[in-house]
Amino acid sequence: MSHSKPKRIILDTDPGIDDALAILLALASPEVQLEAVTVTSGNCPMDQGVINALSVLELAGAGHVPVAAGVPVPLIQPLLIAAETHGTTGLGYAKLPPPQQRPTDQHAVDLLIERIMAAPGEITLVAVAPLTNIAMAIRREPRIIQAVHEVIIMGGALLFQGNTTPVAEFNTYVDPHAAYMVYHSGMPMTLVPLDVTYQCIFRQADVDRLLKIDSPITRFIADSTKFYMEFHDEYQDIEGCVINDPVALALAFMPDLVETRRLHITVDIHSEVSLGNTIGDFYKAWQKPPNMQAALKVQPRRFLDLFVERMEQLALHQN
Ligand code: RIB
Ligand code: CA
Repeated sequence: MSHSKPKRIILDTDPGIDDALAILLALASPEVQLEAVTVTSGNCPMDQGVINALSVLELAGAGHVPVAAGVPVPLIQPLLIAAETHGTTGLGYAKLPPPQQRPTDQHAVDLLIERIMAAPGEITLVAVAPLTNIAMAIRREPRIIQAVHEVIIMGGALLFQGNTTPVAEFNTYVDPHAAYMVYHSGMPMTLVPLDVTYQCIFRQADVDRLLKIDSPITRFIADSTKFYMEFHDEYQDIEGCVINDPVALALAFMPDLVETRRLHITVDIHSEVSLGNTIGDFYKAWQKPPNMQAALKVQPRRFLDLFVERMEQLALHQN
């Protein structure tokens, strides 16, 4: 068992039910050290997302992890909020105590730049929200492109249908211009699209297994995902809920969960009907160099077992 030092990560979020599960998975995984949580709007308005991030961290006894508010609206698009998917609080039916901690005074863009530039090659950025904060950080300090260790992005739909328009995935659709800037920035990126996350369905049986442990954490997971499951049933006829964000987080310490392929990928920022569509040039028609790794296959059961086992451990250690 290699005892390499934990991978230092910053999680950029729009918390959001599956964002909250990604925060909990990071806290439950000794292979990673969650250095900070940055927030933008998406699943809920940013100010609510900041409260949610603080509350979820405290739920797991990690109130020491700094939370930073970022850019609250997309670069160009009007703000789109997914209240139907994550509920009015952004955490479904879950009710958490108001957080004791306050967010850091530092802006998320400045925190990202400061942390990445202070430790070149050390910081892994896991981006599970619209990419507005990351795009602004690149423009403010382009040197982070070389200094960041890796960027794992939950976003896009390559050979899979969109979840927000017929072709566009939510994070990419909310801020397609930010996604375009990040995708073409030259950062070392791995994209985790709906192609793989829609194979990772968290089901009632998983909730029932977790509820065997009486804990605020298991109750939070049950209450938040209950709303999320109702959304997936009503809008997408799926039994269970797609927990996109923890899949991306898991790649920070278990990259062999997926099979990736280097591709040239871009985002449609020009057309009306396919705005936010992520396009992978599988046959190299455009003769452009690949700009990222894209995860195209995943081991769903291995991921879900990992997630549930680590949530059990987190809940048991918390008691
Ligand atoms: O399309 C799924 C993504 O959009 C997830 O990150 C979810 O939390 C929302 O942000
Ligand atoms: Ca998210």
